[in-house]
Amino acid sequence: METRRPLHPLLLFFSPWLLLLLLLVVQGVRSLQFTRDDFPDGFTFGAGTAAFQYEGAAAEDGRTPSIWDTYAHSWRNPGGETGDVACDGYHKYKEDVMLMNETGLEAYRFTISWSRLIPSGRGAVNPKGLQFYNSMINELVKAGIQIHAVLYHIDLPQSLQDEYGGWVSPKVVDDFAAYADVCFREFGDRVAHWTTSIEPNVMAQSGYDDGYLPPNRCSYPFGRSNCTLGNSTVEPYLFIHHTLLAHASAVRLYREKHQIN
Ligand SMILES: *[C@@H]1O[C@H](CO)[C@@H](O)[C@H](O)[C@H]1NC(C)=O
Ligand SMILES: *[C@@H]1O[C@H](CO)[C@@H](O)[C@H](O)[C@H]1NC(C)=O
Ligand SMILES: *[C@@H]1O[C@H](CO)[C@@H](O)[C@H](O)[C@H]1NC(C)=O
Repeated sequence: METRRPLHPLLLFFSPWLLLLLLLVVQGVRSLQFTRDDFPDGFTFGAGTAAFQYEGAAAEDGRTPSIWDTYAHSWRNPGGETGDVACDGYHKYKEDVMLMNETGLEAYRFTISWSRLIPSGRGAVNPKGLQFYNSMINELVKAGIQIHAVLYHIDLPQSLQDEYGGWVSPKVVDDFAAYADVCFREFGDRVAHWTTSIEPNVMAQSGYDDGYLPPNRCSYPFGRSNCTLGNSTVEPYLFIHHTLLAHASAVRLYREKHQIN
């Protein structure tokens, strides 16, 4: 009597079912290839950066440290990566805007570094910081790229963190509004799209609950790192509360003082 020998595993590769499956997968991938026409009119293609990850020149032309610089240079950052040089955008933005244009990007989103524009957190504007953002914005205008500016991305001036605890203090609301006012006044003629703050949920959780990100505040038993300062029960909510008030102040200011039309 004849018995069927078990199929050699290699033969599986040639089984017609497998070929059919492969064909279906290839077809599926093909149908995932999109073109511009698959998107509605007005859909904008762009790319984004965050000041700390992009600019570098951390101590150049009057910029002072933000809470990210402090974190990056501390023992909490075992990899030791810093934003001292980063993508060197502070020096290479012209090249980058050219690349954006060549790539066909329609929009670019970037963050303004608060401690570059206003090194003490409040008060005097740094002329070199002002010049940098004006110059980058002008390059984007020349290249016909839609500009989206962000005011805050986890990079509070360290001076304000030291002075009154940063976002857990109500004092931050007025300082943020004053900073936003400078940005609207100086760049508002060319920047039509503004974002006040990015990822506040992440900042509340990681900055003040588990303490994983700057300003690394937490309290037992919630910390993911050894926090010596903070209160995970209270501070995430203070952070969010003041972020919302700061957002509302900036929006009110924009509507009342800066909005054209
Ligand atoms: C942007 O790119 C387009 C075509 O790719 C080119 O015609 C145009 O001159 C470029 N503009 C600038 C400011 O480089
Ligand atoms: C945190 O503190 C504990 C106990 O003091 C210690 O064993 C641990 O190594 C510390 N972790 C870090 C990342 O310093
Ligand atoms: C956090 O703050 C609350 C309210 O002030 C207080 O009851 C609690 O003991 C504090 N926790 C820590 C760890 O300091």
